[in-house]
Amino acid sequence: MRTQIAAANWKMNKTLQEGTQLLNDILSSDIDPSTTQKVIFAVPFPYLTVSNDVIKGRANIHIAAQNCHHKISGAYTGEVSVDMLDSIDIKYCIIGHSERRELFDESNQVIAEKLNLCLGKGLTPIFCCGEALSIREAGTQNDYVENQLNESLFHLNKVEIQKIVIAYEPIWAIGTGKTATSEQAQEMHAHLRNVLAKQYGSDIANNISILYGGSVKGSNAVELFGQPDVDGGLVGGASLIPSEFVQIIKALK
Ligand code: PGA
Repeated sequence: MRTQIAAANWKMNKTLQEGTQLLNDILSSDIDPSTTQKVIFAVPFPYLTVSNDVIKGRANIHIAAQNCHHKISGAYTGEVSVDMLDSIDIKYCIIGHSERRELFDESNQVIAEKLNLCLGKGLTPIFCCGEALSIREAGTQNDYVENQLNESLFHLNKVEIQKIVIAYEPIWAIGTGKTATSEQAQEMHAHLRNVLAKQYGSDIANNISILYGGSVKGSNAVELFGQPDVDGGLVGGASLIPSEFVQIIKALK
């Protein structure tokens, strides 16, 4: 079975005290991810080390960064490198979130460079893709997302591609309360798996976890995660509310 993942993306929310409380509230509830499940918290940079301490000793629970820079090191004031993340024992990093693409002009090429650096250091990238509303309305979302994979992922070899987690996040569903229907999610996830199968073969495509993101909540997670090609979720707003995120974790297959 593919790994099923509930990943929290806190974005730029919570103070250290509030975030630690949030983590502790979730960890002290009755969650116990199995060996085929993972729970990941993508917290702001300043909380990575403290958060790693908070989850210490908990099986199948990890801390992620929300971003990294696409150069190894140098004069990039304010940026954080993959080497820095590695040096504080961070094993996961969100790459290419739509907010980074839109607000910080990240291109598919820059995202490919970030993926390479992560893989080089043994970090698992959570690679985000997804279309804007105008593309969905034009009906060209399948081609658009396929191109994102093509330009950011398909230089990877058969071993490397299996080290990636993909998150499909339609931009029109992020933070809007407007979730994709489970049919829309399944349709795109199946398309992505087909595209991966064409490139790498179906055994490899069937091994890659594809998460859905965009207004995932406690109340819709069972339905979304129940789809055959949906392997969990990348969750923003609802991951900031302990009871909601616990319900989402419990909805994993
Ligand atoms: P949302 O955000 O759950 O608040 O829609 C998801 C994301 O941006 O990863």
